[in-house]
Amino acid sequence: MFEIRHNDFDADAFVSLWSSVWDGCPSREQAALAIENSIDRVGVYDGSKIVAMARMIGDRGMCYYIKDVIVHPAYQGRGIGKMMIGELLRFIRENGVPGTDIAVELCAMPDKMPFYAKFGFEANEAQRMRMMLRAGETT
Ligand SMILES: CC(C)(COP(=O)(O)OP(=O)(O)OC[C@H]1O[C@@H](n2cnc3c(N)ncnc32)[C@H](O)[C@@H]1OP(=O)(O)O)[C@@H](O)C(=O)NCCC(=O)NCCS
Repeated sequence: MFEIRHNDFDADAFVSLWSSVWDGCPSREQAALAIENSIDRVGVYDGSKIVAMARMIGDRGMCYYIKDVIVHPAYQGRGIGKMMIGELLRFIRENGVPGTDIAVELCAMPDKMPFYAKFGFEANEAQRMRMMLRAGETT
């Protein structure tokens, strides 16, 4: 019923899906650069319409980071999020050095942690540290 496509969705789809769930969407130009440099990105389609996306950055050897997992509100609760995470994890298993362990990380709000726990993700004592830098400024 739903079709998964790899490395297909564009910045317009990114902006549209992001804006369906959150405020403060990155610019189209920023999204284009980010998705072009993602290792794998999956889009889920209902016919020709994209209804969900997720993408992954990383070094292919030791670590990956899953980003921007979004199912359009009208399509949530139908197994699509599960399908996308499964697809990204399959990519890692198939493309890593056989026999090695690879860290897969992501950041989740507390109410989404049970969703990720179903795949085996666990919180540890490490705390996320983050700062935002303004590109183009020299100081
Ligand atoms: C979180 C999100 C990606 C889940 O996708 P989804 O397609 O609605 O989830 P699925 O239907 O694939 O659910 C898969 C399983 O997780 C469970 N699940 C989904 N969301 C859950 C939640 N918030 N808490 C607990 N369990 C959840 C489902 O019940 C289902 O369980 P089952 O396999 O035992 O039946 C989606 O709700 C979403 O896009 N939310 C808004 C954006 C967002 O917050 N993204 C995550 C950023 S961290």
